[in-house]
Amino acid sequence: MTKTYRLDDGRQTLVLASENDRLPQVVYWGGSLPSGENLGALCAAHQIDVTGGMLDENPAVSLCPEAARSFQGQAGLMLSASDGRPLLPEFRLHSVEEGDALRFVCQDAGNGLTLTFEFAVDAQTRIITCQTKLDATQPVRLHWLAAPVMPAPQLAMDMIDVSGRWCGEFQLNRTPWSAGIRTRDNRTGSTGHEHFPGLMVPVTGATNTQGECYGFHYGWSGGHTMIAEELQDGRRQVQWGHAKDSEIAAATRFETAPLYLTYSDTGLNGCAVSFQRHLRERIVTWPKPDTPRPVHYNCWEAVYFDHKWPVLKDIAERAAHLGAERFVLDDGWFGLRDDDTSSLGDWIIDARKYPDGLTPLIDHVHSLGMTFGLWFEPEMISENSDVYRAHPDWALGPQDQILGRQQKVLNMARPQVRDFLYDRISAILRDNPIDYIKWDHNRVLPTPDAAQTRGTYALLDRLRADFPLVEIESCASGGGRIDFGIMARTQRVWLSDSNDALERLRIQHDAALFLPSAVTGSHVGPRHCHTSGRTLDITFRAWVAAQRHMGFEMDPRELDTRETEVLMRVTQWWKDNRAWMRTADILRLDSADPAVIAEQQQDPAGARFVVFAGKAATSAQISPRPLRLTALDPAAMYEITLANRDELAGLSRGTTALKERDLVLSGKYLMNHGVTLPWSFPERMWVVEGTRL
Ligand code: GLA
Repeated sequence: MTKTYRLDDGRQTLVLASENDRLPQVVYWGGSLPSGENLGALCAAHQIDVTGGMLDENPAVSLCPEAARSFQGQAGLMLSASDGRPLLPEFRLHSVEEGDALRFVCQDAGNGLTLTFEFAVDAQTRIITCQTKLDATQPVRLHWLAAPVMPAPQLAMDMIDVSGRWCGEFQLNRTPWSAGIRTRDNRTGSTGHEHFPGLMVPVTGATNTQGECYGFHYGWSGGHTMIAEELQDGRRQVQWGHAKDSEIAAATRFETAPLYLTYSDTGLNGCAVSFQRHLRERIVTWPKPDTPRPVHYNCWEAVYFDHKWPVLKDIAERAAHLGAERFVLDDGWFGLRDDDTSSLGDWIIDARKYPDGLTPLIDHVHSLGMTFGLWFEPEMISENSDVYRAHPDWALGPQDQILGRQQKVLNMARPQVRDFLYDRISAILRDNPIDYIKWDHNRVLPTPDAAQTRGTYALLDRLRADFPLVEIESCASGGGRIDFGIMARTQRVWLSDSNDALERLRIQHDAALFLPSAVTGSHVGPRHCHTSGRTLDITFRAWVAAQRHMGFEMDPRELDTRETEVLMRVTQWWKDNRAWMRTADILRLDSADPAVIAEQQQDPAGARFVVFAGKAATSAQISPRPLRLTALDPAAMYEITLANRDELAGLSRGTTALKERDLVLSGKYLMNHGVTLPWSFPERMWVVEGTRL
């Protein structure tokens, strides 16, 4: 007997079926099916044939493929009894709860195991959230538990997953599907620069703006394993879970993190917009949702560890003059932290640098109209610290482990470690009017351990419950801890330590497949970039920062008159537009010129947009290629204007219309032909504003 179940959100349909009370499998995931679709017929149609050299039946790619049912690919569950005996469960469907969400409870009575799968759809964001849970009557050792296993389309040549490095986050890898497994196994114990837990599977022919695409994100900060497998019979499965063997202790209950899924028929952008909206509207909790995102100033690249009152006072005044609204005091204010070799864990204000505490600086910052934020790296400990000398056993991993940035990691699974950190951090927050924490994490774990991540989440949850108005930024040497798990507890990410606008242009473009502007920090760096050695003009640096949650991170004393004027002007532009841009969708454009990285930020109602066209390199052809816009109403007329005409270079000698005046053009023209922009130097940005008439 076949039982069928269906979920719809207006754009996508998910159909699941259980045959003879076996584990359910996804029999359809894609564009919305008619409401009258006969699901029994659909299940029958889903059957694939059998021929020579195969088993007499095709084992299902179920929500958790079982090795014991002759499944020849990667199983969805691997576990052993606490005495080490491997268990090979065979589950049967026990009960189902139906409604807006689906919950399947499956049991293996012989082994005392219960496996639960949950699915929920969000009709606004079009994200399906799903999760797998395992309960056992006796403690078991878990090696691998996949979140609900999903099929991938067979009409897809490639998959796009995400790697990266320090100062080079969110690198997209296109890998051809082929027989066998592509694994992304993140053993770093944290989300890491190396393996952002996201995947896009574009159906053949899809681009940013058109075609079909399937998107996946695993919302976990402890390192994950992703398996994308093509079976001998051609079927494809995608599995996600906590990094294999990262559950160290035997237990009676395990669960995966939520897996976020979406299907789009408007190219990669459809998936990207769903992830952006879901993160912004459903995952992040905003302490003050109606307060505009403030312009940041962060002093790290201006002073590093050298905190001197007259200098900080001067810098704060200059930052406020430029337009900053929040001043963030970075690393160096605590213990005896004059460089990165000491003091992590000693979260006590350094009386040499701040004899009267932080109060004089905070008062000064407040008098300038800015709020005050402070840097912490709570999970870390320096061997050269009072707390390590008192509690060397609090560090995670072997005594003689390789250090990272000269530091170890605290064992966050230990309640006394969390209590200690809570006491130190809450004392600083109670005694000082601080509205923002930059929460850093600057090394990988000695070994992956899921309990570490749960401990960090617990500390964050406790601090947030007691200080609900404090915003938190997730930083990990830049973008090393970005995922929906940490974002459920934070409001901003430090996307990269690269303040090089050229690098940042690319990083934030690719990160927009998952991240909305509202959470993505982007700062105007120094004229000579500290991490790349590149020298970039202030116009480019300012506009790249204005694409996301804007801030400054250079020493403002280096700015000359022109740079000051440009920066103030762009910052004012950002303030004038931030209210609608906060909830805008970021649509990556299909640029005809590979030298141009372009995006269109558009309010969800489609009434206005802004296009940022960043010229990342010198073009091969001499004249700019028309840039096709997207997601406009073809029949509507739009007025478009070049927001930064003043940046025209002398070498631009022609009569490109936008140089002189605004234009009114149809959505159809703008999408089919595109906008023709004036010639420009590389490392420049054109900004085109549009309004629907
Ligand atoms: C990390 C962060 C930087 C800065 C330093 C301070 O590298 O990514 O932004 O806060 O730590 O040590």
